[in-house]
Amino acid sequence: MRISVIGCGYVGLVTGTGLAEVGHQVICTDNDPERIAALKAGVVPIYEPYLDAMLAANHRAQRLSFTSDATQAVREAEAIFICVGTPPLENGEADLSAIDNVARLIAAEACDSKLIVEKSTVPAQTGQQLKRVLEVYRRNVGVEFRVASNPEFLREGTAVEDFLHPDRIVIGVEDEASEKQLREIYRPILERRFQCPVHLSGCPAMRPPTLVVTTINSAELIKHASNSFLAMKISYANIIADVCEKVGADIKEVTYAMGLDPRIGPRFLEAGLGFGGFCLPKDVQAFIRLADRSGVDFGMLKEAEHVNKRRIELFFEKIRQALWVVKDKQVGVLGLAFKANTDDIRFAPSLEIIRRLLAEGAHVRAYDQEAMDKTSEILPQVRYSREPYEVAQDADALLILTEWPEFRQLDWARIYSMMGRPLVLDGRNLLNPAAMMDLGFEYYSFGRPTEALTPNLVPSGVSSASTASASA
Ligand code: UDX
Repeated sequence: MRISVIGCGYVGLVTGTGLAEVGHQVICTDNDPERIAALKAGVVPIYEPYLDAMLAANHRAQRLSFTSDATQAVREAEAIFICVGTPPLENGEADLSAIDNVARLIAAEACDSKLIVEKSTVPAQTGQQLKRVLEVYRRNVGVEFRVASNPEFLREGTAVEDFLHPDRIVIGVEDEASEKQLREIYRPILERRFQCPVHLSGCPAMRPPTLVVTTINSAELIKHASNSFLAMKISYANIIADVCEKVGADIKEVTYAMGLDPRIGPRFLEAGLGFGGFCLPKDVQAFIRLADRSGVDFGMLKEAEHVNKRRIELFFEKIRQALWVVKDKQVGVLGLAFKANTDDIRFAPSLEIIRRLLAEGAHVRAYDQEAMDKTSEILPQVRYSREPYEVAQDADALLILTEWPEFRQLDWARIYSMMGRPLVLDGRNLLNPAAMMDLGFEYYSFGRPTEALTPNLVPSGVSSASTASASA
Protein backbone atom coordinates (compact mmCIF):
# COMPACT_ATOMS: atom_id res chain seq x y z
CA MET A 1 0.00 0.00 0.00
CA ARG A 2 1.17 3.56 -0.64
CA ILE A 3 1.51 5.14 2.79
CA SER A 4 2.67 8.56 3.92
CA VAL A 5 3.99 9.34 7.36
CA ILE A 6 3.84 12.94 8.50
CA GLY A 7 6.35 13.73 11.25
CA CYS A 8 9.80 12.13 11.43
CA GLY A 9 10.34 11.93 15.19
CA TYR A 10 10.60 8.67 17.16
CA VAL A 11 7.11 7.51 16.33
CA GLY A 12 7.14 8.58 12.69
CA LEU A 13 10.54 7.15 11.85
CA VAL A 14 9.89 3.82 13.51
CA THR A 15 6.40 3.58 12.01
CA GLY A 16 7.54 4.57 8.51
CA THR A 17 10.55 2.29 8.52
CA GLY A 18 8.58 -0.59 10.03
CA LEU A 19 5.78 -0.29 7.47
CA ALA A 20 8.36 -0.27 4.66
CA GLU A 21 10.08 -3.28 6.21
CA VAL A 22 6.88 -5.33 6.02
CA GLY A 23 6.42 -4.45 2.37
CA HIS A 24 4.59 -1.14 1.98
CA GLN A 25 5.68 1.81 -0.14
CA VAL A 26 6.33 4.57 2.38
CA ILE A 27 7.05 8.24 1.98
CA CYS A 28 7.99 10.23 5.10
CA THR A 29 7.80 13.98 5.46
CA ASP A 30 8.64 16.53 8.15
CA ASN A 31 8.51 20.31 8.35
CA ASP A 32 12.19 20.39 9.36
CA PRO A 33 14.09 20.43 6.02
CA GLU A 34 17.43 19.72 7.74
CA ARG A 35 16.03 16.56 9.26
CA ILE A 36 14.79 15.42 5.84
CA ALA A 37 18.14 16.25 4.21
CA ALA A 38 19.94 14.21 6.88
CA LEU A 39 17.56 11.27 6.45
CA LYS A 40 18.04 11.34 2.68
CA ALA A 41 21.78 11.11 3.31
CA GLY A 42 21.18 8.12 5.61
CA VAL A 43 21.74 9.98 8.88
CA VAL A 44 19.19 8.96 11.51
CA PRO A 45 18.72 11.83 13.99
CA ILE A 46 17.91 9.57 16.97
CA TYR A 47 19.58 6.60 18.60
CA GLU A 48 17.28 3.61 18.44
CA PRO A 49 18.66 0.05 18.21
CA TYR A 50 18.24 -1.49 14.70
CA LEU A 51 16.61 1.62 13.26
CA ASP A 52 19.49 2.96 11.18
CA ALA A 53 20.25 -0.39 9.53
CA MET A 54 16.59 -1.07 8.78
CA LEU A 55 16.04 2.45 7.48
CA ALA A 56 19.10 2.25 5.22
CA ALA A 57 18.05 -1.15 3.83
CA ASN A 58 14.53 0.03 2.99
CA HIS A 59 15.82 3.28 1.56
CA ARG A 60 18.16 1.31 -0.72
CA ALA A 61 15.33 -1.02 -1.71
CA GLN A 62 13.32 2.09 -2.64
CA ARG A 63 10.42 1.17 -0.38
CA LEU A 64 11.16 4.13 1.91
CA SER A 65 11.71 7.70 0.79
CA PHE A 66 11.88 11.14 2.41
CA THR A 67 10.58 14.47 1.19
CA SER A 68 10.17 17.94 2.61
CA ASP A 69 7.32 18.44 0.16
CA ALA A 70 4.33 17.61 2.37
CA THR A 71 1.91 18.15 -0.49
CA GLN A 72 3.59 15.40 -2.50
CA ALA A 73 3.42 13.10 0.52
CA VAL A 74 -0.30 13.83 0.94
CA ARG A 75 -1.17 13.38 -2.74
CA GLU A 76 0.70 10.12 -3.28
CA ALA A 77 -0.71 8.19 -0.33
CA GLU A 78 -3.73 5.95 0.07
CA ALA A 79 -3.27 6.13 3.84
CA ILE A 80 -1.64 8.93 5.84
CA PHE A 81 -0.22 8.32 9.32
CA ILE A 82 -0.10 11.48 11.43
CA CYS A 83 2.93 11.17 13.71
CA VAL A 84 3.55 14.77 14.70
CA GLY A 85 4.38 15.83 18.25
CA THR A 86 1.76 16.66 20.87
CA PRO A 87 3.91 18.37 23.52
CA PRO A 88 2.44 19.58 26.81
CA LEU A 89 1.09 23.12 27.11
CA GLU A 90 1.73 25.20 30.25
CA ASN A 91 -1.47 23.83 31.81
CA GLY A 92 -0.53 20.20 31.11
CA GLU A 93 -2.99 19.71 28.24
CA ALA A 94 -1.63 18.33 24.96
CA ASP A 95 -0.80 20.94 22.34
CA LEU A 96 -2.72 19.76 19.29
CA SER A 97 -1.72 22.58 16.96
CA ALA A 98 0.58 20.37 14.87
CA ILE A 99 -2.29 17.91 14.31
CA ASP A 100 -4.58 20.79 13.33
CA ASN A 101 -1.98 22.09 10.83
CA VAL A 102 -1.54 18.68 9.25
CA ALA A 103 -5.30 18.17 9.02
CA ARG A 104 -5.76 21.48 7.21
CA LEU A 105 -2.90 20.66 4.85
CA ILE A 106 -4.40 17.28 3.99
CA ALA A 107 -7.85 18.80 3.50
CA ALA A 108 -6.47 21.43 1.15
CA GLU A 109 -4.12 19.27 -0.89
CA ALA A 110 -5.76 15.84 -1.23
CA CYS A 111 -7.05 15.12 -4.73
CA ASP A 112 -8.57 11.74 -3.93
CA SER A 113 -10.09 9.93 -0.95
CA LYS A 114 -7.82 8.85 1.87
CA LEU A 115 -7.58 7.08 5.19
CA ILE A 116 -6.16 9.40 7.85
CA VAL A 117 -4.62 7.51 10.75
CA GLU A 118 -4.01 9.31 14.01
CA LYS A 119 -0.85 7.77 15.47
CA SER A 120 0.32 10.60 17.72
CA THR A 121 -0.83 10.32 21.33
CA VAL A 122 -3.89 12.49 21.65
CA PRO A 123 -6.70 12.94 24.17
CA ALA A 124 -9.99 11.16 23.59
CA GLN A 125 -12.28 12.92 21.09
CA THR A 126 -9.39 14.31 19.01
CA GLY A 127 -10.52 12.05 16.17
CA GLN A 128 -13.90 13.76 16.13
CA GLN A 129 -12.22 17.18 15.88
CA LEU A 130 -9.93 15.84 13.16
CA LYS A 131 -12.93 14.72 11.12
CA ARG A 132 -14.50 18.14 11.50
CA VAL A 133 -11.36 20.01 10.40
CA LEU A 134 -10.91 17.73 7.37
CA GLU A 135 -14.51 18.33 6.40
CA VAL A 136 -14.48 22.10 6.94
CA TYR A 137 -11.21 22.74 5.09
CA ARG A 138 -11.75 20.21 2.27
CA ARG A 139 -10.95 21.89 -1.03
CA ASN A 140 -11.86 19.20 -3.57
CA VAL A 141 -15.52 18.25 -3.50
CA GLY A 142 -15.95 14.51 -3.82
CA VAL A 143 -12.79 13.70 -1.86
CA GLU A 144 -13.66 11.58 1.16
CA PHE A 145 -11.64 11.39 4.34
CA ARG A 146 -11.95 8.39 6.62
CA VAL A 147 -10.40 8.88 10.07
CA ALA A 148 -8.99 6.13 12.30
CA SER A 149 -7.02 5.99 15.51
CA ASN A 150 -4.09 3.61 15.82
CA PRO A 151 -2.22 4.44 19.03
CA GLU A 152 1.42 3.47 19.27
CA PHE A 153 2.83 1.64 22.29
CA LEU A 154 6.49 1.83 21.28
CA ARG A 155 9.04 2.06 24.03
CA GLU A 156 12.21 3.95 23.27
CA GLY A 157 15.15 1.59 23.15
CA THR A 158 13.03 -1.33 21.92
CA ALA A 159 10.85 0.60 19.48
CA VAL A 160 11.74 -1.44 16.39
CA GLU A 161 11.02 -4.71 18.16
CA ASP A 162 7.83 -3.28 19.62
CA PHE A 163 6.67 -2.26 16.15
CA LEU A 164 7.39 -5.58 14.48
CA HIS A 165 6.32 -7.74 17.44
CA PRO A 166 3.63 -5.85 19.35
CA ASP A 167 1.45 -7.47 22.04
CA ARG A 168 -1.57 -5.81 20.54
CA ILE A 169 -2.52 -3.58 17.65
CA VAL A 170 -5.38 -1.26 18.48
CA ILE A 171 -7.41 0.27 15.71
CA GLY A 172 -10.24 2.68 16.38
CA VAL A 173 -12.53 2.91 13.36
CA GLU A 174 -16.03 3.98 12.46
CA ASP A 175 -16.47 2.34 9.07
CA GLU A 176 -15.77 -1.01 7.47
CA ALA A 177 -13.48 0.34 4.75
CA SER A 178 -11.08 1.82 7.30
CA GLU A 179 -11.00 -1.39 9.29
CA LYS A 180 -10.31 -3.39 6.14
CA GLN A 181 -7.54 -1.06 5.06
CA LEU A 182 -5.84 -1.10 8.46
CA ARG A 183 -6.10 -4.89 8.66
CA GLU A 184 -4.39 -4.99 5.27
CA ILE A 185 -1.65 -2.60 6.39
CA TYR A 186 -0.90 -4.70 9.47
CA ARG A 187 -1.51 -8.12 7.88
CA PRO A 188 2.20 -9.00 7.56
CA ILE A 189 2.68 -8.27 11.28
CA LEU A 190 -0.56 -9.93 12.37
CA GLU A 191 0.26 -13.06 10.39
CA ARG A 192 4.02 -12.85 10.98
CA ARG A 193 4.58 -12.84 7.24
CA PHE A 194 7.91 -11.06 6.99
CA GLN A 195 11.54 -11.82 7.57
CA CYS A 196 12.27 -9.98 10.80
CA PRO A 197 15.64 -8.22 10.75
CA VAL A 198 15.71 -8.11 14.54
CA HIS A 199 15.24 -11.74 15.51
CA LEU A 200 15.70 -13.42 12.12
CA SER A 201 14.89 -17.09 12.69
CA GLY A 202 13.36 -16.56 16.17
CA CYS A 203 10.25 -14.80 14.96
CA PRO A 204 7.86 -17.48 13.80
CA ALA A 205 7.85 -18.88 17.33
CA MET A 206 6.70 -15.61 18.82
CA ARG A 207 3.06 -15.16 19.73
CA PRO A 208 1.18 -13.15 17.09
CA PRO A 209 -0.32 -9.89 18.29
CA THR A 210 -3.97 -9.46 19.19
CA LEU A 211 -5.85 -7.07 16.94
CA VAL A 212 -8.29 -4.98 18.95
CA VAL A 213 -10.92 -3.14 16.93
CA THR A 214 -12.70 -0.37 18.83
CA THR A 215 -14.33 2.99 18.33
CA ILE A 216 -12.03 5.96 17.77
CA ASN A 217 -12.77 7.38 21.23
CA SER A 218 -11.92 4.07 22.92
CA ALA A 219 -8.67 3.68 20.96
CA GLU A 220 -7.56 7.14 22.02
CA LEU A 221 -8.46 6.41 25.62
CA ILE A 222 -6.64 3.04 25.61
CA LYS A 223 -3.35 4.81 25.02
CA HIS A 224 -3.72 7.32 27.85
CA ALA A 225 -5.20 4.74 30.20
CA SER A 226 -2.29 2.34 29.53
CA ASN A 227 0.49 4.86 30.04
CA SER A 228 -1.19 6.28 33.13
CA PHE A 229 -1.55 2.82 34.62
CA LEU A 230 2.16 2.16 34.07
CA ALA A 231 2.96 5.48 35.74
CA MET A 232 0.78 4.58 38.72
CA LYS A 233 2.50 1.19 38.97
CA ILE A 234 5.93 2.84 39.13
CA SER A 235 4.78 5.38 41.71
CA TYR A 236 3.20 2.60 43.76
CA ALA A 237 6.52 0.71 43.79
CA ASN A 238 8.28 3.92 44.78
CA ILE A 239 6.02 4.48 47.78
CA ILE A 240 6.49 0.84 48.82
CA ALA A 241 10.25 1.50 48.60
CA ASP A 242 9.87 4.42 51.00
CA VAL A 243 7.95 2.20 53.41
CA CYS A 244 10.64 -0.47 53.03
CA GLU A 245 13.26 2.05 54.11
CA LYS A 246 11.26 2.91 57.21
CA VAL A 247 10.51 -0.66 58.30
CA GLY A 248 13.76 -2.28 57.21
CA ALA A 249 12.33 -4.32 54.33
CA ASP A 250 13.87 -4.78 50.87
CA ILE A 251 11.92 -3.42 47.88
CA LYS A 252 13.51 -5.92 45.50
CA GLU A 253 12.28 -8.82 47.59
CA VAL A 254 8.85 -7.29 47.99
CA THR A 255 8.27 -6.46 44.29
CA TYR A 256 9.77 -9.76 43.17
CA ALA A 257 7.21 -11.69 45.20
CA MET A 258 4.38 -9.31 44.25
CA GLY A 259 5.21 -9.71 40.58
CA LEU A 260 4.84 -13.50 40.71
CA ASP A 261 1.11 -12.95 41.07
CA PRO A 262 -0.08 -12.89 37.45
CA ARG A 263 -2.71 -10.34 38.41
CA ILE A 264 0.11 -7.93 39.25
CA GLY A 265 2.97 -8.99 36.95
CA PRO A 266 6.67 -8.28 37.47
CA ARG A 267 7.21 -5.32 35.16
CA PHE A 268 7.16 -1.62 35.94
CA LEU A 269 7.77 -2.23 39.61
CA GLU A 270 11.35 -0.93 39.62
CA ALA A 271 11.69 1.67 42.34
CA GLY A 272 14.10 4.56 42.07
CA LEU A 273 14.13 8.01 40.54
CA GLY A 274 10.73 7.57 38.95
CA PHE A 275 9.48 7.89 35.41
CA GLY A 276 10.82 10.40 32.89
CA GLY A 277 10.91 10.64 29.11
CA PHE A 278 8.65 12.40 26.70
CA CYS A 279 5.63 10.11 27.05
CA LEU A 280 4.72 9.03 30.55
CA PRO A 281 4.98 12.45 32.29
CA LYS A 282 3.10 14.31 29.55
CA ASP A 283 0.49 11.61 29.05
CA VAL A 284 -0.22 11.53 32.77
CA GLN A 285 -0.69 15.31 32.82
CA ALA A 286 -2.86 15.31 29.73
CA PHE A 287 -5.03 12.50 31.13
CA ILE A 288 -5.51 14.34 34.41
CA ARG A 289 -6.62 17.45 32.46
CA LEU A 290 -8.95 15.39 30.28
CA ALA A 291 -10.54 13.81 33.35
CA ASP A 292 -10.86 17.23 35.02
CA ARG A 293 -12.51 18.72 31.96
CA SER A 294 -14.89 15.78 31.85
CA GLY A 295 -15.84 16.41 35.48
CA VAL A 296 -13.99 13.35 36.80
CA ASP A 297 -11.50 13.84 39.63
CA PHE A 298 -8.65 11.45 38.90
CA GLY A 299 -7.11 11.79 42.36
CA MET A 300 -5.13 8.54 42.08
CA LEU A 301 -3.31 9.73 39.01
CA LYS A 302 -2.65 13.15 40.50
CA GLU A 303 -1.05 11.42 43.46
CA ALA A 304 1.07 9.22 41.16
CA GLU A 305 2.36 12.37 39.47
CA HIS A 306 3.05 14.00 42.83
CA VAL A 307 4.94 10.92 44.07
CA ASN A 308 7.03 10.97 40.90
CA LYS A 309 8.02 14.62 41.34
CA ARG A 310 9.06 13.88 44.95
CA ARG A 311 11.61 11.23 43.84
CA ILE A 312 14.17 13.82 42.76
CA GLU A 313 13.67 15.65 46.06
CA LEU A 314 14.18 12.45 48.04
CA PHE A 315 17.30 11.55 46.08
CA PHE A 316 18.74 14.97 46.65
CA GLU A 317 18.07 14.64 50.37
CA LYS A 318 20.06 11.38 50.28
CA ILE A 319 22.91 13.16 48.50
CA ARG A 320 22.87 16.00 51.00
CA GLN A 321 22.73 13.66 53.97
CA ALA A 322 25.70 11.66 52.69
CA LEU A 323 27.84 14.58 51.54
CA TRP A 324 26.73 17.07 54.23
CA VAL A 325 28.13 20.07 52.28
CA VAL A 326 27.62 19.82 48.52
CA LYS A 327 29.62 22.93 47.62
CA ASP A 328 33.01 22.20 46.04
CA LYS A 329 32.47 18.41 46.05
CA GLN A 330 33.49 16.36 43.00
CA VAL A 331 30.42 14.44 41.90
CA GLY A 332 30.59 11.76 39.22
CA VAL A 333 27.41 10.91 37.30
CA LEU A 334 26.85 7.60 35.52
CA GLY A 335 23.88 7.85 33.19
CA LEU A 336 22.08 10.84 31.68
CA ALA A 337 19.40 9.33 29.42
CA PHE A 338 15.90 9.08 30.91
CA LYS A 339 16.27 5.29 30.71
CA ALA A 340 18.68 2.75 29.24
CA ASN A 341 19.13 2.11 25.51
CA THR A 342 18.21 5.57 24.35
CA ASP A 343 19.95 8.92 23.87
CA ASP A 344 16.76 10.74 24.86
CA ILE A 345 17.11 13.16 27.79
CA ARG A 346 13.68 14.75 27.64
CA PHE A 347 12.31 14.93 31.20
CA ALA A 348 15.27 12.83 32.38
CA PRO A 349 15.70 12.92 36.19
CA SER A 350 19.46 13.38 35.60
CA LEU A 351 18.97 16.92 34.31
CA GLU A 352 17.18 18.16 37.40
CA ILE A 353 19.65 16.46 39.74
CA ILE A 354 22.68 17.88 37.92
CA ARG A 355 21.15 21.36 37.84
CA ARG A 356 20.68 21.22 41.61
CA LEU A 357 24.21 19.96 42.17
CA LEU A 358 25.61 22.79 40.06
CA ALA A 359 23.41 25.34 41.81
CA GLU A 360 24.84 24.22 45.15
CA GLY A 361 28.40 24.58 43.87
CA ALA A 362 29.38 20.95 43.15
CA HIS A 363 31.75 20.06 40.29
CA VAL A 364 30.07 17.51 38.06
CA ARG A 365 31.65 15.06 35.67
CA ALA A 366 29.33 12.76 33.70
CA TYR A 367 29.31 9.74 31.44
CA ASP A 368 26.56 8.15 29.35
CA GLN A 369 26.87 5.71 26.46
CA GLU A 370 24.57 7.68 24.18
CA ALA A 371 23.23 10.85 25.73
CA MET A 372 26.30 13.04 26.28
CA ASP A 373 26.05 15.06 23.06
CA LYS A 374 22.47 16.06 23.75
CA THR A 375 23.16 16.81 27.43
CA SER A 376 26.23 18.91 26.69
CA GLU A 377 24.08 21.24 24.59
CA ILE A 378 21.96 22.17 27.60
CA LEU A 379 24.44 21.60 30.43
CA PRO A 380 27.79 22.84 29.12
CA GLN A 381 29.06 23.42 32.70
CA VAL A 382 29.40 19.65 33.19
CA ARG A 383 32.66 17.90 32.23
CA TYR A 384 31.93 14.88 30.04
CA SER A 385 34.08 11.75 30.02
CA ARG A 386 34.47 9.38 27.12
CA GLU A 387 34.67 6.40 29.47
CA PRO A 388 32.96 5.62 32.78
CA TYR A 389 36.00 5.22 35.04
CA GLU A 390 37.13 8.78 34.50
CA VAL A 391 34.07 10.16 36.31
CA ALA A 392 35.06 8.22 39.43
CA GLN A 393 38.57 9.65 39.58
CA ASP A 394 38.95 11.52 42.92
CA ALA A 395 35.16 11.86 43.18
CA ASP A 396 33.54 12.47 46.55
CA ALA A 397 30.41 10.70 45.34
CA LEU A 398 29.27 8.69 42.34
CA LEU A 399 25.61 8.82 41.29
CA ILE A 400 23.88 6.24 39.11
CA LEU A 401 21.03 8.00 37.30
CA THR A 402 20.23 5.67 34.37
CA GLU A 403 19.76 1.90 34.49
CA TRP A 404 22.29 1.06 31.74
CA PRO A 405 23.07 -2.65 32.33
CA GLU A 406 26.73 -1.96 31.43
CA PHE A 407 27.16 -0.11 34.72
CA ARG A 408 26.67 -3.42 36.53
CA GLN A 409 29.62 -4.90 34.67
CA LEU A 410 32.07 -2.15 35.67
CA ASP A 411 35.10 -3.11 37.75
CA TRP A 412 33.78 -1.71 41.02
CA ALA A 413 36.93 -2.67 42.93
CA ARG A 414 38.85 -0.45 40.53
CA ILE A 415 36.32 2.33 41.00
CA TYR A 416 36.70 1.97 44.78
CA SER A 417 40.42 2.55 44.51
CA MET A 418 39.98 5.59 42.25
CA MET A 419 37.46 7.58 44.27
CA GLY A 420 38.35 10.31 46.73
CA ARG A 421 35.58 8.98 48.97
CA PRO A 422 34.00 5.63 48.08
CA LEU A 423 30.40 6.81 48.19
CA VAL A 424 27.82 5.55 45.69
CA LEU A 425 24.22 6.77 45.49
CA ASP A 426 22.35 4.43 43.19
CA GLY A 427 19.17 6.13 41.95
CA ARG A 428 18.15 3.06 39.94
CA ASN A 429 18.76 0.21 42.42
CA LEU A 430 21.09 -1.24 39.82
CA LEU A 431 23.79 -2.69 42.06
CA ASN A 432 23.77 -5.21 44.86
CA PRO A 433 24.04 -3.42 48.23
CA ALA A 434 25.75 -6.32 50.02
CA ALA A 435 28.36 -6.70 47.27
CA MET A 436 29.01 -2.95 47.25
CA MET A 437 29.39 -2.82 51.01
CA ASP A 438 31.68 -5.88 50.91
CA LEU A 439 33.92 -3.89 48.58
CA GLY A 440 34.00 -1.16 51.20
CA PHE A 441 31.64 1.33 49.56
CA GLU A 442 29.27 3.56 51.42
CA TYR A 443 26.23 2.71 49.32
CA TYR A 444 22.70 4.14 49.22
CA SER A 445 19.78 3.25 47.00
CA PHE A 446 15.96 3.27 47.27
CA GLY A 447 14.07 0.96 49.62
CA ARG A 448 16.90 -1.42 50.43
CA PRO A 449 18.38 -1.67 53.91
CA THR A 450 22.01 -0.70 54.17
CA GLU A 451 22.05 -1.39 57.92
CA ALA A 452 20.92 -4.30 60.10
CA LEU A 453 17.22 -4.42 60.89
CA THR A 454 16.08 -2.54 63.96
CA PRO A 455 14.88 -5.49 66.13
CA ASN A 456 11.56 -3.99 67.29
CA LEU A 457 10.46 -3.45 63.67
CA VAL A 458 10.62 -7.15 62.76
CA PRO A 459 7.08 -8.56 63.05
CA SER A 460 6.89 -11.62 65.31
CA GLY A 461 7.06 -14.93 63.48
CA VAL A 462 8.83 -13.42 60.45
CA SER A 463 12.46 -14.24 59.83
CA SER A 464 14.59 -11.33 58.69
CA ALA A 465 16.75 -13.70 56.64
CA SER A 466 14.98 -13.69 53.29
CA THR A 467 14.99 -16.63 50.97
CA ALA A 468 13.73 -14.73 47.93
CA SER A 469 16.16 -14.76 45.06
CA ALA A 470 15.70 -11.19 43.86
CA SER A 471 18.80 -10.20 41.96
CA ALA A 472 20.73 -6.95 42.35
C1 UDX B 1 6.38 4.71 27.36
C2 UDX B 1 5.40 3.53 27.26
O1 UDX B 1 5.95 2.39 27.95
C3 UDX B 1 5.11 3.21 25.80
O2 UDX B 1 4.16 2.17 25.72
C4 UDX B 1 4.59 4.46 25.13
O3 UDX B 1 4.36 4.23 23.77
C5 UDX B 1 5.59 5.59 25.26
O4 UDX B 1 5.84 5.81 26.65
P1 UDX B 1 9.00 5.06 27.08
O5 UDX B 1 8.77 6.51 27.31
O6 UDX B 1 9.93 4.66 25.98
O7 UDX B 1 7.63 4.30 26.80
O8 UDX B 1 9.60 4.49 28.45
P2 UDX B 1 9.23 3.33 29.48
O9 UDX B 1 10.00 2.12 29.19
O10 UDX B 1 7.78 3.19 29.63
O11 UDX B 1 9.83 3.99 30.81
C6 UDX B 1 9.32 5.25 31.26
C7 UDX B 1 10.07 5.72 32.49
O12 UDX B 1 9.74 4.95 33.61
C8 UDX B 1 11.60 5.67 32.39
O13 UDX B 1 12.11 6.87 32.94
C9 UDX B 1 11.97 4.49 33.23
O14 UDX B 1 13.27 4.63 33.77
C10 UDX B 1 10.90 4.52 34.30
N1 UDX B 1 10.61 3.23 34.90
C11 UDX B 1 10.15 2.20 34.14
C12 UDX B 1 10.76 3.07 36.28
O15 UDX B 1 11.16 4.00 36.99
N2 UDX B 1 10.44 1.86 36.83
C13 UDX B 1 9.99 0.82 36.09
O16 UDX B 1 9.73 -0.25 36.69
C14 UDX B 1 9.84 0.98 34.70
